[in-house]
Amino acid sequence: MKVFTEIANLYQIRGQEEKIVRGQKMNALECVEGAYLMVSDGKIEAFGPMSDLEAGAFSGIERISLKGKSVLPTWVDSHTHLVFADWRNHEFLDRLNGLSYQEIAERGGGILNSAERMREADEDALFEAAMKRLNKLIAKGTGAIEIKSGYGLSTETELKMLRVINRIKAAAPIPVKATFLGAHAFPARFKNDPDAYIDEVINEMLPAVAAEGLADYVDAFCEQGYFSLDQTERILKAGVQHGLVPKVHVNQFNAFGAVELCVRYGARSVDHLEVLNPADIEALKSSETIAVGLPGCSFFLGIPYTPIRELMAADIPVALASDFNPGSAPDGNLNFALSLACTQMKMSPKAAVNALTLNAAAAMDATDEVGSITVGKRANFIVTEPINDLSFLPYAFGDDAIDAVYINGERFTE
Ligand code: NIG
Ligand code: FE
Repeated sequence: MKVFTEIANLYQIRGQEEKIVRGQKMNALECVEGAYLMVSDGKIEAFGPMSDLEAGAFSGIERISLKGKSVLPTWVDSHTHLVFADWRNHEFLDRLNGLSYQEIAERGGGILNSAERMREADEDALFEAAMKRLNKLIAKGTGAIEIKSGYGLSTETELKMLRVINRIKAAAPIPVKATFLGAHAFPARFKNDPDAYIDEVINEMLPAVAAEGLADYVDAFCEQGYFSLDQTERILKAGVQHGLVPKVHVNQFNAFGAVELCVRYGARSVDHLEVLNPADIEALKSSETIAVGLPGCSFFLGIPYTPIRELMAADIPVALASDFNPGSAPDGNLNFALSLACTQMKMSPKAAVNALTLNAAAAMDATDEVGSITVGKRANFIVTEPINDLSFLPYAFGDDAIDAVYINGERFTE
């Protein structure tokens, strides 16, 4: 048992029944000024104003004064491609010389390039490199993470990736969820018969993934030049039959009905949404599906930002994630995502914090463990440097203003 005292502001306090926050309600964030936070067995035991504590209440309990510093729950990253064999900064140079993300992919670069490297990669080396990246991210405030396969594109290599993700699940001090993304790109060997690859995903990969219990979600890159509506539907349907929940890449470059399709299949989230039409908003409005924006990807590729404010105006719950991957978002620092959310997507700091904590936890079914300061949840929290207001965090972009990160009640050091 330990107690953190004299917290300037304890942000994002919630009751156990609060699982998600929709639309304009995201602009509110409850906070206790001058607070204490009690931790027991790695979980939040109690919190409240210092004035509620009777003199001598801490006798015999380890006491850590956070005088002048503020506390908020750790960020939750509900969309990453954390496991990869190598960076793709040579393609970044190609982009600087004028090629687009799609043009690089058409030349066999992009996802296929990562898949080539993944095929050769050693499982232990993949695990160690990903753990190193993960530990760096935890030190920057990430307290739960989702990780996708999708650089395998063959049964053997998809399974290798998912086994690595499951090793991370077992080894990491934070909640980890796994997503099967066999339908990330068409391997070159299926160039003349793309539907045969869908057959392989459905008949070979999915049964093997399900048999070993390697994934929580099923994903597909539903996009022109990648997976069509029909192909995506076949994959989601098969995934659902195997007990996986859809969580899907849609509307990154084109809008053609993918959102409605995913809602119909009970998707936990639809991610990207840089291009949205009114029908997409209509489909989301009356659903439980969460809209996930990936501001780091928009920043890095120079493509439009997800129109978060329009989604919020339609009372849709929105989350934000890093999309950490070697092609379109080679960084997973969510403090930067927070800044982009405010500066580029015009979200209020409070809405952006909701999108990176409570709603992000909902987008990866981790609400019982993380996403808010709630009794019973993991004591995963960020201690800020002394700040005069929450707005300082997105304002001071590039300076994470983090004093310490606590995971399961323990100070985390990389
Ligand atoms: O979310 N859009 C598809 N997949 C990733 C990019 C993966 C890659 O380029 O390696 C994304 O942006
Ligand atoms: Fe992605």
